[in-house]
Amino acid sequence: MSKKILITRIIPPVAEELLQQAGFTVTVWPGDRAMTKDELIEHARKVDILLSLGSNKLDRAFFETCNHLEIVSQFAVGFDNIDVAAATDFKIPVCNTPDVLSEATADVAFGLMINVSRKMFYHHKLILKGEWKQFEPLKNLGFELTGKTLGIFGLGRIGSIMAQRCKGAYGMKVIYHNRNRNIEAEKETGAQYVDFDTLLHDSDILSVHSALTPETKGLFNKQAFAKMKNTAVFINTSRGGVHNEADLIEALQNNIIWGAGLDVTNPEPMQADNPLLNMPSVAVLPHIGSATIEARTGMARLAAENIISFYKTGKPITIVNAEVLKS
Ligand code: DGY
Repeated sequence: MSKKILITRIIPPVAEELLQQAGFTVTVWPGDRAMTKDELIEHARKVDILLSLGSNKLDRAFFETCNHLEIVSQFAVGFDNIDVAAATDFKIPVCNTPDVLSEATADVAFGLMINVSRKMFYHHKLILKGEWKQFEPLKNLGFELTGKTLGIFGLGRIGSIMAQRCKGAYGMKVIYHNRNRNIEAEKETGAQYVDFDTLLHDSDILSVHSALTPETKGLFNKQAFAKMKNTAVFINTSRGGVHNEADLIEALQNNIIWGAGLDVTNPEPMQADNPLLNMPSVAVLPHIGSATIEARTGMARLAAENIISFYKTGKPITIVNAEVLKS
């Protein structure tokens, strides 16, 4: 009998096509929203395999109830919605979709940086409000990026592409901080490793590309912003949980830092009355890092191929908890 898969949201059809061609029985949940916890458990109980999204909370209670699952393949590079330790305890492989969305996400970081440095979202809002009046020699000036220092927090795939974009376009000096040095990325990008405090002190643009983990949760807080230049811009395209939003608002209101570009907020969605939305040197996007046809198609393909590869070879292509394969 063929294995049954639940895809928890409508995603690019390539996933369903590949899985069906490989002989799986696929059910796609048809809703135009994330499944509720109860819906997810009810439907996951009936299948062998889950193809999940970041909006599905797969916590320990979920895995205790659905420990029959043979593999969870996530349609996202981030997996902070999944209690991987719990999945590992139940020997369930968890996969994600790195690489295929790196260009798209780096583009959003790069775009936010340019937008904020020239207050573009703010100027656009002035036009919408009928406030484009006349040439203003001194009002709402931005700053130029040429020769500035880019600080990358989390020099992995996305951070490296951002570094290359900034070096190529603006000749920016690149410094970075990671838990461990990434020598390969240093060679590729010319980025220089610095400690966390130096990253905060020296960056003109500080761009966050790390995963959300217990170590990075709320790391960019009042104390961190206080160590940054008052001309610096904070960019976050990874997870909103890495910064403390109340502290960020305060740092911007008190001119502790100059600006911020966010594709991720805390919480998501951001409320329409959030003060960040009315600040001239802030640009906010609704978590669209991977929202290109190419990236989303690549994510669907890889999420399906991880499952197919697991049943064919015993090994998914991009697994998060490889230790389960050994046991
Ligand atoms: C990811 O893949 O982690 C992106 O943030 C989309 O959820």
